[in-house]
Parts: sequence; structure tokens; C-alpha cells
Amino acid sequence: MTVTRQEIDRARIEEIGAREEASYRRRTQKSEALFRRAGESMPLGVASSFQAYDPYPLFMGDARGSRIWDVDGNEYIDFDMAFGVLAAGHSHPLLAEALQRRVANGTCYTFPVEDGITLAEEIRARFNAGFVRFSNSGTEATMDAIRVARGYTGREKIIKFEGGYHGHHDDVLVSIQPPRDLMGPIESPATVPASAGIPRSRIAETVIAPFNEPDILAGILEAHAGEIAAILVEPVQFNIGVVPPEPGFLERLRELADEHGAVLIFDEVKTGVVLAWGGAYEHFGVQPDLFCLAKSIGGGIPIGAFGGKREIMASIETLEGTPAFAEGAAGSGMERSTIPGGATRVAHLGTFNGNPLSMTAGVVTLKEILTKDAYPVLNAMADRLTAGSQSVIDDTGLPGYAINVGPKGCVMFTPERVTSYRNLVDLDAELWAASFFYLANRGILLPPGPDDQWTLSVQHSDADIDRYLEVFGEFAAELTG
Ligand SMILES: Cc1ncc(COP(=O)(O)O)c(C=O)c1O
Repeated sequence: MTVTRQEIDRARIEEIGAREEASYRRRTQKSEALFRRAGESMPLGVASSFQAYDPYPLFMGDARGSRIWDVDGNEYIDFDMAFGVLAAGHSHPLLAEALQRRVANGTCYTFPVEDGITLAEEIRARFNAGFVRFSNSGTEATMDAIRVARGYTGREKIIKFEGGYHGHHDDVLVSIQPPRDLMGPIESPATVPASAGIPRSRIAETVIAPFNEPDILAGILEAHAGEIAAILVEPVQFNIGVVPPEPGFLERLRELADEHGAVLIFDEVKTGVVLAWGGAYEHFGVQPDLFCLAKSIGGGIPIGAFGGKREIMASIETLEGTPAFAEGAAGSGMERSTIPGGATRVAHLGTFNGNPLSMTAGVVTLKEILTKDAYPVLNAMADRLTAGSQSVIDDTGLPGYAINVGPKGCVMFTPERVTSYRNLVDLDAELWAASFFYLANRGILLPPGPDDQWTLSVQHSDADIDRYLEVFGEFAAELTG
């Protein structure tokens, strides 16, 4: 039975939201006490502002498999999975064992290790890449890939899409969820900083385009002909819920990048090794010039990576002004790159890059846990979760729709299908909040924000999916009944 979408009674949402938040407060008093203590030492009481939400975040104590426990001892089936870091699940036994051995034998040498080669080889195989380099986060990976693209092309401007998130460095911390009155016209969106402290001059080089609008992008590229070093894109926009590319959009990006001599960078921090063995590249069949990875490739240990075409990545050399080392690199048989635009070397540095802890974590996660046979199982579970959520919506008339791409999905609490940030106008944040607390109070943990999504891991089970659907069904029935 399909029920017509309801105008939900606002008073009912408010009443359930308030009741569930009060219940959350009762169940999580130790978290509240820790939050008060944390507020004395850290702005917002958290280490990253993404962890903050009202009335206060859960403080966690323990996690294994698909389960996580807060400091009050409440158990949750974890569907957040650390913003999608944990496609391998919490503390996978194979990883835990390998890391214990690694910790006993040194975690940082700042000399290269064999696991770094093995991990680079694995990533090259998955993403059809020439070269790979490691960093420590997604932010560093996109920052480094942009520098390589700029060095390689000798150009300074980059294109970023409205609604996309690529980490917290200045170049890209713009137009993430810009206020509607500052967005500017769709044909030439404004570059809207998402933070104070970002110099205007810095973001003058970041040109904004609307997602899923290839003709507008073509016009923007024409307007900046010969100036664009890179087009940076999340192949699926996973920082405004779940917004997939329209059919043909990524293919068109590929063509436009080629026509304009720009480097196409896929930010696969959320999609890589999650949507498929070879990430969005495999899932959509479009090959970027460079790609960025982080999150899931480390199984829960901090890591970042970027890579792509050998010719472009070969722009990476020793620091300008260190000729002795440059000669050393030349002596290894590697060709010195000739970079258009006059620059000669692109620097890529980092004390913790390629550290043994992250490299071992990556090798075990990719070669032993997120193996090719994991993906059909993950996708089948995710499709069942989406189909089940959609039937709850259809049966109750809850306004919204369920969507997933591979093992990542959500319920979008919007009346219409969202294709870009511009039409994410009617997101019902109050309804989302009521559902978040309702589910959390019954042991189902989602990410604490309507702009994120659930991620399934190889340690989730069909019973976990059933429990989610049962609780979500109760929520919808209570709200609409
Ligand atoms: C698509 C994307 N790129 C980059 C980043 C930044 O990664 P990190 O938080 O590891 O710096 C994120 C983080 O959520 C992301 O979702």
C-alpha cells in the first residue's frame, strides 16, 4: 500500500523531538558531564567542530564489529561508522592483531617501509594509477593533489562544486553549504568562505560551479579559458546527504577537463574502496587524472593518499633549493619532469607520511578485509536497507526518500529528489533531528547531522539491518499515525 505524502503535523514532530531529546539526556548523563568538562579545554568541547551537536555529543568508550558503546554503557548498532571511515568495521580482528604486532615494533621511523610499497601497489591496481603518495588525512590529500595539478599545468585557478566538501584547507573551505542569499546566480556562483580567517586573495583562485549542470560548467570553463588547473569533484556528493551524479555528468567532466587542459581530480575520500573495490572510478567507469583517498583505506587509522597519472605525479620532486637530493632522485633512474608554466618541482612533504602504523593498517584493510568478494555482500545489505526504508516511507507517507550508492545511503528528508545543493531547499532539519534521537534512544546510531549518511561495514549483519528497519518503521508510524 502506498500512502500519499503527508503534510506532517509540525506540532507532532516538535513533541516527539522534545520527548526523544529529553530521553537522550536521561540516558547519557556521563556524556553530558564529560561535555561540560571538555568545554573548559576545547572550543565547543570537541576536537573537530564536526563532532559538535546539540545538546551535546555522545562520548564513546568502546567499539567492536558493528557495535559501539557510549560512556554510560548504552549499546548502539553503529551506522555512522566514523563518518564512513569504517567499511572494515570497528577493530576488525585481522587488523587489531596486525596493529598490535606493529605497535610492538615501532610506529614511526621517517624512513620508508615495505608496507608502503605494497599499499601503493594495491592502490595503483585498484585505481589504474601510475604513481601514489601518502599523507595523513583527506584534507592533506586534496591539498597536495591541487598543488600537483597547479604545478603540472602552471595555472592557479581550480573549480570546486557547490555543496562539495574536500577538507579544511583554505582553497576548498568555500561554498560548502553557503547561505542562499550569498550564493549568487547559478551561471556564476559566488565563492563563499565557510570560515573566518580565510584570506580573500587565497580563495580568489577557487571558482565555483553547480553540481550536475554540465552546460553551466562548460560556460564557466570558457569564461576562464586557459586558467583552470584542476576540476575537483566528489563523484557522489556525500556531504549534503547522498547526491549522485546524473547519468553522463562525470563523463562530461572528463571531456571538458580534456578540452580545457585541466586536471580532473576525483575526491574519493568517501567513495574510494567503499563504493567498489576501485571506488567511484570503478563504479562509474570514468577515469580521473588524479584521485584522493583517506578514511576507509586505513581501517580506522589516520591516513591519506593521492595518486593518478604518472606524468602528472612525476611533478613531485625534492624541495626547490635542495639540488643534492634532486640528483639522488635522478640517480634512481627516474626522469626529471618538465612542468609547463615555468615551475620545476612540486613539493610534497610530511613527517608522518607513509608511517609504518598507517601503512600496515592500509595493507591489512585492503588486502585482507575489503577484498573483491566483500563488495557484493555490502551492496546487497545496503540495497535491502534502502528498499526497506523506502517501503516504510511509502506505507506511512513520511515526506522524504531513501537512497544509497553502494554501501552508503540515507533518508533524505526532502519532498523532491535532490540533484544539487541548489535544490536542497526544503530539507526538514527538525524531522531529521527527531529521527536521530528516536533511533539513538533505541540503539541505532546515525551520523549526527542531516548532511551525512550511513555506511555499512563488512561486520554488519542482516540482523543489524532488520533492527534498523524495525525502529525506523516505529518512528514513522508514531509520527504519522
Ligand atoms: C569528500 C571528502 N574529502 C575530504 C575530506 C577531508 O578529510 P579529513 O577529514 O580526513 O581531512 C572529507 C571529510 O569528511 C570528505 O568527505
